[in-house]
Amino acid sequence: MQNFEQFLLDNLPQSKSIHPTYESALHNMLEAGGKRFRPALLLGVVKAYNPLMIESAYHAAYAIELLHTYSLIHDDLPAMDDSPLRRGHPTLHVTYDEVTAILVGDALNTYSFELLSNAPFSDEIKVNLIRELAQNGGLNGMVLGQAIDCYFENKPLALEDIKTLHTNKTAKLIAAALKMGALIVERENEADELYDFGIKLGLLFQIQDDILDVTQSSEEAGKLTNNDEEKNSFVTILGLDEALREANLLADELTKSMQSFDESLQRELSPILTKYINRHKN
Ligand code: IPE
Ligand code: IPE
Ligand code: MG
Ligand code: MG
Ligand code: MG
Repeated sequence: MQNFEQFLLDNLPQSKSIHPTYESALHNMLEAGGKRFRPALLLGVVKAYNPLMIESAYHAAYAIELLHTYSLIHDDLPAMDDSPLRRGHPTLHVTYDEVTAILVGDALNTYSFELLSNAPFSDEIKVNLIRELAQNGGLNGMVLGQAIDCYFENKPLALEDIKTLHTNKTAKLIAAALKMGALIVERENEADELYDFGIKLGLLFQIQDDILDVTQSSEEAGKLTNNDEEKNSFVTILGLDEALREANLLADELTKSMQSFDESLQRELSPILTKYINRHKN
């Protein structure tokens, strides 16, 4: 069986044009790698309930990774977080230019939905997947979170609003990854439970990201760190100790919830969940 990473590399977005760098820019951040956390969650759920569908599920795992990669490219733009480094490589607006970075983001965003529309599932499943990705990655999900994140720079928010911000910015897409896995294998009941679990997991993931912003070097993180001083990051607002305490509370809660998962789901998801639930403790 081909692995997901190979599938992604074999299916990079193709374009033939007179533009000298557009296609290499399209490929640049996808080839640069990253943790592939969202694909791994989606594929773990599919593997738990219907391993025969795993290769079909690569299409959906790739779609969510495309949308996530677009969000990172735009996140790094000078108008947003103004970062020169991503996934250990110079950002697209540095390697190419700002116009290219904006347009590559736009292209990966729409390509994610094109890919889902052509995926080897029934029309009903495809529509469900497209809806889930759009709802969580779009105007009332990641994009809203990014809008609040940038608007409220240097304007401290209350803790509840910070949680809403990070739920939209990060947690919804992570929750969508788990839910999309369940939709592929037509496990409607598990889909909602996994979504709720994913929201908490995603919030923890962002708290950890905020912690790593102050505890890791740019080299270790592969992206610019110490870059959240103006943000409503958990560390900027709560301080490092309190952010670590919030992370520990969520990590304990998630570890407990995991124990009520079906046996097959525990088997497939435990390795990745244990690794990421505890990553702020390293
Ligand atoms: C970074 O996401 C942005 C956040 C939502 C915290 P990842 O930490 O998953 O980035 P990659 O995909 O590994 O580069
Ligand atoms: C960005 O959050 C989350 C996205 C929706 C892309 P951050 O701005 O904290 O992500 P990093 O730290 O640059 O990866
Ligand atoms: Mg940001
Ligand atoms: Mg950023
Ligand atoms: Mg960050």
